[in-house]
Amino acid sequence: MSQLFNVDTAALAQREALNHGAAQHDLEAWIRENVHLAAGHRVLDLGCGRGKQVFAFAPLVMPGGSIVGLDVSPEAAMEVRRRVAREDLRHIEMIECGLDDCVERLKGRVFDRILSTYAIYYSQDMVSLMLGLRLRLAPGGVALYSGFGRGSNREINEIIRHVAAGRTPGGANPDANLTADRAVDPVEDFITPGEIDRLADAYTSVRIVRLENRMTFASVEDVMRWWAHHNSYRPELATRVRAGVASVVEHAGAFTLSKHVLGVLVHA
Ligand SMILES: C[S@@+](CC[C@H](N)C(=O)[O-])C[C@H]1O[C@@H](n2cnc3c(N)ncnc32)[C@H](O)[C@@H]1O
Repeated sequence: MSQLFNVDTAALAQREALNHGAAQHDLEAWIRENVHLAAGHRVLDLGCGRGKQVFAFAPLVMPGGSIVGLDVSPEAAMEVRRRVAREDLRHIEMIECGLDDCVERLKGRVFDRILSTYAIYYSQDMVSLMLGLRLRLAPGGVALYSGFGRGSNREINEIIRHVAAGRTPGGANPDANLTADRAVDPVEDFITPGEIDRLADAYTSVRIVRLENRMTFASVEDVMRWWAHHNSYRPELATRVRAGVASVVEHAGAFTLSKHVLGVLVHA
């Protein structure tokens, strides 16, 4: 897992803006439907970033509910707190804390729903964290830990691998040795079947849910802007990746990127 953008709030904001409008499905709707969010729920959102899910779900838990956002990034925490103050959303609380410390930090509290979207794998020990979070789940509670699924971003990753290996239309790539070892591997599920099995020790049910979400970009510039804020970005390959993307846009009229979301849905 690249650490490049894991706490980069500005890059996250850019990706959010580009994803918005390009995506076929609404990720928040998928989360909401899987965990059946309702009024009165106490929700914890781990690695909440700028609060994309926190603010989307804030109206749904009212009246009577609350949302705690947690993130290690001070910038993310500041952005969330500013918006909470601006919009006077008193049922939202923002905690600045690392994932690996959160079970202890939240001692004495329980939640009806625990969510973590594209963040849980930044923990030093993701499975131990998921097991520990059982202590923070109220009776009857549900958690959804989501992230990348196998095959995600396949279309751009194939172009990146292609150019990194020197198979450019113009012939051999002189810096292939420099870049090939840094080229992206095909994306696998963020959690293995063995890791999923271990969760059965803590939860009464463990289920995998998936969403395939296609993002369609109308122009080469949009694709390149998205990629520049993604952790697979390789500046040294940008010119040749751009040429590859341009040829797809020229033939297909647009560039489609498949996002495969994997969710681990567990019940207390
Ligand atoms: C890809 S973003 C996802 C943000 C948000 N859930 C969303 O979907 O828009 C990953 C988030 O995890 C946070 N993060 C990374 N490492 C973390 C850690 N060790 N503890 C807590 N948060 C972490 C980052 O600061 C970032 O806000």
